[in-house]
Amino acid sequence: MKPIKVGLLGIGTVGGGTFAVLLRNQEEIARRAGCAITMAMVADKDVDKARAIAGDRVVVTADAYEIVNHPDIDIVVELIGGTGIAKELILKAIANGKHVVTANKALLANHGNEIFAAAQKKDVMVAFEAAVGGGIPIIKALREGLSANRIEWIAAIINGTSNYILTEMRDKGVSFDAALEEAQRLGYAEADPTFDIEGIDAAHKLSIMAAIGFGIPMQFSAVYTEGISKLTREDIRYAEELGYRIKLLAISKRKAQGIELRVHPTLIPERRLIANVEGVMNAVLVMGDAVGQTMYYGAGAGAEPTASAVVADLVDVARMLTADPEHRVPHLAFQPDQLSNTPILPMGQVESAYYLRLRVFDKPGVLADITRILADLGISIEAMVQKEPREGEDWVNLIMLTHLTLEQHVSDAIVKIEALPVVADKVTRIRLEEFN
Ligand code: HSE
Repeated sequence: MKPIKVGLLGIGTVGGGTFAVLLRNQEEIARRAGCAITMAMVADKDVDKARAIAGDRVVVTADAYEIVNHPDIDIVVELIGGTGIAKELILKAIANGKHVVTANKALLANHGNEIFAAAQKKDVMVAFEAAVGGGIPIIKALREGLSANRIEWIAAIINGTSNYILTEMRDKGVSFDAALEEAQRLGYAEADPTFDIEGIDAAHKLSIMAAIGFGIPMQFSAVYTEGISKLTREDIRYAEELGYRIKLLAISKRKAQGIELRVHPTLIPERRLIANVEGVMNAVLVMGDAVGQTMYYGAGAGAEPTASAVVADLVDVARMLTADPEHRVPHLAFQPDQLSNTPILPMGQVESAYYLRLRVFDKPGVLADITRILADLGISIEAMVQKEPREGEDWVNLIMLTHLTLEQHVSDAIVKIEALPVVADKVTRIRLEEFN
């Protein structure tokens, strides 16, 4: 088979890693793919930098359209990111009958339905292993390895930056700001770190995994998203004293009434494997009805880990090039006409356990008032701790863990509790998952 020619759009960190991996492992890759995969063209605004990385044998251009319109290019690798020019270039490449490999989670989460429909019309493949979990082959696992299963739920640590920040805050007691600064210095964070710390990046990745796991369209706008920027060291410490770690989890569950899609800080028992995923590492826990729980762990970002996923997609596409499009693995795991319109549950209908921290006046009857509100709403308390007051203060921190309950009931309870004159400040609410 003649060599497959690849055109790369954007040669930043991951692009550079892709170059290095393709070159270093070219023989192994060709043995697997059944043909050589060669990087033929690179487009980057910084032509000098691109030339320095790509060398003399590769055509370097500042004009990405030169690549997506070039008749010799078989596969376009999009590593520009964002939802602007990257979208136009991918749609143009598809219109020109080229296959696409992308790491662009924001683009797929927001416009994936349109992109996959265009690809299906033109009988081309759009592969996106690198969009979720960096080097972890989670897309492949969900789409193919677990295809015998009815997926029940997915729970994942899929933003390395926020996991790094939470780990630093717990291990070293540093502040949120100091940990974020360090994560940025180490190059983990997105160009806009709000995407990392406010859970948006994790929500992008969750939309993609849920689509593949449950056979539903991408629905980024339906994901409930709460980040880690308001978490305090105090809550991290209290959670630890109760035997829990706090992680930013992306969770999707299949329920009788619909599908839960949510990203938020979550208490997890410290003995669970996923609670021990530290630093910039990622992990995805998947519950399938046949296999039970499986966990996928690895580097969620970085040049060569992410390149590992990009190159694996190139091999996949190269192998499938000659296959009849009808017999390829569907982009979203399920046949396009089999996607279901199962509703996404509003957050009020989500079921979870909760960590609640209240600042209350330390006097008789306060606890009775609070527990009455909870009881009236059918919320059952699993554990409760009252911390010592600070020197010279009458206000104390009261921490409650609840059993499973509806989010709406907890929201209603919080409104009532906050209205009590003996309660100072807002109630801190953090969701809790046992993963039994
Ligand atoms: N900013 C992302 C993270 C990079 O921190 O996980 C990989 O998508």
